[in-house]
Amino acid sequence: MPEFDTELLAPDEGGLARAAAIWRAGGLVALPTETVYGLAADARQGRAVARIFASKERPRFNPLIVHLPGAAAARQLAEWPRDAARLADAFWPGPLTLVLPLRPGHGLSPLVTADLPTVALRVPAHDVARAALHAFGGPLAAPSANPSGRISPTTAAHVLAGLGGRIEAVIDGGPCPVGVESTIVSLAGDPALLRPGGVPAEAVEAALGRPLAPPEAAAPDRPGAPGQLASHYAPRAGVRLDATERRPGEVLLGFGAIAGDLTLSASGDLAEAAANLFGHLHALDARGQPIAVAPVPETGLGRAINDRLRRAAAPRP
Ligand code: TXA
Ligand code: MG
Repeated sequence: MPEFDTELLAPDEGGLARAAAIWRAGGLVALPTETVYGLAADARQGRAVARIFASKERPRFNPLIVHLPGAAAARQLAEWPRDAARLADAFWPGPLTLVLPLRPGHGLSPLVTADLPTVALRVPAHDVARAALHAFGGPLAAPSANPSGRISPTTAAHVLAGLGGRIEAVIDGGPCPVGVESTIVSLAGDPALLRPGGVPAEAVEAALGRPLAPPEAAAPDRPGAPGQLASHYAPRAGVRLDATERRPGEVLLGFGAIAGDLTLSASGDLAEAAANLFGHLHALDARGQPIAVAPVPETGLGRAINDRLRRAAAPRP
């Protein structure tokens, strides 16, 4: 039974004021960011954050990213090593999340960080997300606005299809321009890449002036970012990677010279491919047939695209 008649809010002053009122009251509103739609709640209200986990059916050990209006707000919540300043100067606002040691008195619900001594912080570049953060005036915890393990949403329609009836509202800001989630870099120890994403790892390394360590370096006891589950972004039907042709019964997601039923980018442009990735997966998944996927190069944004595709193709739990 749907619990809510999920409101579709316009990205204007009235819609943002409504969203802010819902957040203050401890409710859930999905909002557009440049990467994917996020399912946001007040990061200081434990009950509101608990509802994020419940509505997505997300495992509790998987911490959330806190969205902020700027670096000044980040410095209040977390320690701010020189590398943080370097990366924030280079990439904020934008699709880069920094994992940093929490500062005492941060005021965040411990559910946000899954009780870790670190917190993931991000300053989104999307005009509507920025306006929403200003209208609300506080930190918003927001994972991608999809049921846990399913394909991430890049339109308000994707959010409604997955979470309609379970959340109070969605702000409709149109399709997300980047299309894959933020790059996550841990600065809690030596800089480490926890998740490839919208900022190419090569660009982060150039700004740092040194290479990023693999995820194991950040948390030897817990490989990868917590919650980076092998099976994720999963369409209902199976996914077969590195396909150069369609086998009987399959639909083909093309790239470059390999044209498919839908094609990520006919010209081989990785930014265009990232922007199309989840929308095309949603559309092909609706056909109910197994999805074959053409190879995508493992450079720049291709690393994020291939990371999501490998998780989509991984055996399901
Ligand atoms: O682009 C994005 O980052 C989107 C939009 C909505 O901002 N958000 C997003 O959130 O992708 P989510 O929940 O799907 O992914 C957050 C990931 C978690 O899987 C977890 O691995 C990592 O961030 N994370 C959060 N806090 C962490 C921490 N303290 N240490 C290490 N990893 C953390
Ligand atoms: Mg997600």
